[in-house]
Amino acid sequence: MSKVIAIDGTFASGKGTLAKRLATYFGYAYLDTGKLYRAVGARALEAKANFDDTKTLAKLATIIKPKELDNPVLKSGAVGAAASKVAVHAEVRAALYNFQRNFAAHPGKGFMGAVLDGRDIGTIICPDADVKLYIDAKPEVRAERRYKELLSYGEDITLANVAADLKERDHRDQNRTEAPLKPAVNAHLLDTTNLSIDAAFERAKALAETILSQK
Ligand code: C5P
Repeated sequence: MSKVIAIDGTFASGKGTLAKRLATYFGYAYLDTGKLYRAVGARALEAKANFDDTKTLAKLATIIKPKELDNPVLKSGAVGAAASKVAVHAEVRAALYNFQRNFAAHPGKGFMGAVLDGRDIGTIICPDADVKLYIDAKPEVRAERRYKELLSYGEDITLANVAADLKERDHRDQNRTEAPLKPAVNAHLLDTTNLSIDAAFERAKALAETILSQK
């Protein structure tokens, strides 16, 4: 049976980098599920769709193609904000559900398992995951990290804007009715506020190795 590592956490907590490194280390396939919501958000912006128009947004979610997920436009702050707005709709989430489930169950030839990162992986998408991690860090540290990342993409932004966006995003993700961001009951919490990415990876790896060796 293919193994699953589920990684959830807040915006800019470092979960994506950790997830990617864990996937490489264990020889598992990796899916950044945020990209699915970002792809729908990008399409919604392009179509000038109303973010309250559930039906149109859900329709956009059904036509997302895997190759769209590599579009660098998905990394922008504007698309990230749009992703969090489309993600509140149950119908959008439902349209993306099977893709994520299939990825977890059938990660592809040569892969021993899958690592998925997002907001609801341990709670909704893969409630039976072998390993569940919940990654967080203090908001000011996350804002600083995201600010540097967006600067590296050439975005014209201020730290204050990024901090305000982060606050809004945390609030929307944690308080929505559908699949709100929260640690799964059996998730292991990792606070990366004072950890380098290498130190965070070592902790996550040790934890995952211990759990997987007991399976
Ligand atoms: O992780 P990332 O910042 O790329 O995610 C963008 C947005 O997509 C999040 O703020 C969240 O609203 C939504 N999302 C979600 N469920 C996931 C992954 C992302 O609701 N599994």
